[in-house]
Amino acid sequence: MFITFEGIDGSGKSTQAKALVSTLQAQGKSCIWTREPGGSEGAETIRKLLVEGDPNRWSAETEILLFNAARRDHLEKTIQPALLRGATVVCDRYVDSTRVYQGIVRADLRELVDLMHGIIIGREADLTFIIDIDPEVALTRGLARNSGEDRFEDMGLDFQKRLRAGFMELAKQNTKRCHVIDGSQTMEEVGRAVLTIYESVAT
Ligand SMILES: Nc1ncnc2c1ncn2[C@@H]1O[C@H](COP(=O)(O)OP(=O)(O)O)[C@@H](O)[C@H]1O
Ligand SMILES: [Mg+2]
Repeated sequence: MFITFEGIDGSGKSTQAKALVSTLQAQGKSCIWTREPGGSEGAETIRKLLVEGDPNRWSAETEILLFNAARRDHLEKTIQPALLRGATVVCDRYVDSTRVYQGIVRADLRELVDLMHGIIIGREADLTFIIDIDPEVALTRGLARNSGEDRFEDMGLDFQKRLRAGFMELAKQNTKRCHVIDGSQTMEEVGRAVLTIYESVAT
């Protein structure tokens, strides 16, 4: 099973993706954690180009190409081999982020994103958690990290608000695959909500 976590910066994706992997591994399941952009050696190199530096460094079109290059390598080297071994793959961000960031919010390029995805990637997640949160709360969480990987966070609060709306729109268009979870709850509560949905889908 291929599971993805989506949502705005600081919503709790990484926290919950790692928690789910720990829980499944503790149950004796074969399960890997991975992330985008990145998740393979080549894709991690491309990640640096995308998440560091000036917010105006790339156009939305160039970003789409870089994300697809990274995603293709990630799919070939990490995701597909793990799925073929029978492992569950839990991925922190995937194509829904590209759909929302480059397809809706940075530019009106949703068709291009879906076209590229169909040609180059062709693999959708089986189950997607969208963690929903007020961007003002998320921004104080996210920016507190000082990771240096804040190119998208640096696009500002209004950008994050539009991302939130974009993820909600996407969830409405994909009700079978996407499950929205209230990210303002405690980590434990969010984790329980994730597990409940996982169990209802996986069994
Ligand atoms: N439910 C929560 N309540 C409070 N703080 C949280 C919660 N979930 C995550 N955090 C904290 O908020 C910050 C951002 O979480 P993170 O999982 O890195 O978000 P994302 O990966 O979506 O950017 C981290 O410091 C994390 O420890
Ligand atoms: Mg994260």
